Amino acid sequence: MAVQRTFSIIKPDATQRNLTGAINAVIEKAGLRIVAQRRIQMSQAQAEKFYGVHSERPFFGELVEFMTSAPVVVQVLEGEDAVAKYRDVMGATNPADAADGTIRKLFALSIGENSVHGSDSVENAAMEIAQFFTDDQIVG
Ligand code: PPS
Repeated sequence: MAVQRTFSIIKPDATQRNLTGAINAVIEKAGLRIVAQRRIQMSQAQAEKFYGVHSERPFFGELVEFMTSAPVVVQVLEGEDAVAKYRDVMGATNPADAADGTIRKLFALSIGENSVHGSDSVENAAMEIAQFFTDDQIVG
């Protein structure tokens, strides 16, 4: 299995409940290494660009509003099979469907306020990482 990097966001519902450390503990316990991390206030333009693929979906406006409502923590995670592994660690998009022990089962409030984002492919991970980090900011 190859070592990969994936992009993660700890979302406003989690930062507002002081869950950054608790979520990072789950990430690290799963064997993923946090090789870059920054707390930012996402702008409307950044959120609209990041979620551009969902722009025609009915919840797009709500999603952009939520992601800009409070600070988020953007991260790069590294490890064996990191993209799929982090999707497993996050759990299903809707916390009602998430497996026990996953971040969303433990912490998410709803399908919108679901605490974390993780890339869904290696290609998207590279594009998402490049939106928020330069190579020299990632220290593996
Ligand atoms: S996924 O994981 O990409 O397959 O999930 P998907 O269902 O396509 O959802 C994409 C992102 O949209 C968010 N989402 C919502 N936000 C607000 N309201 C509703 N109803 C809603 N449904 C989905 C979901 O949390 C996904 O966000 P990210 O940050 O990509 O995980």
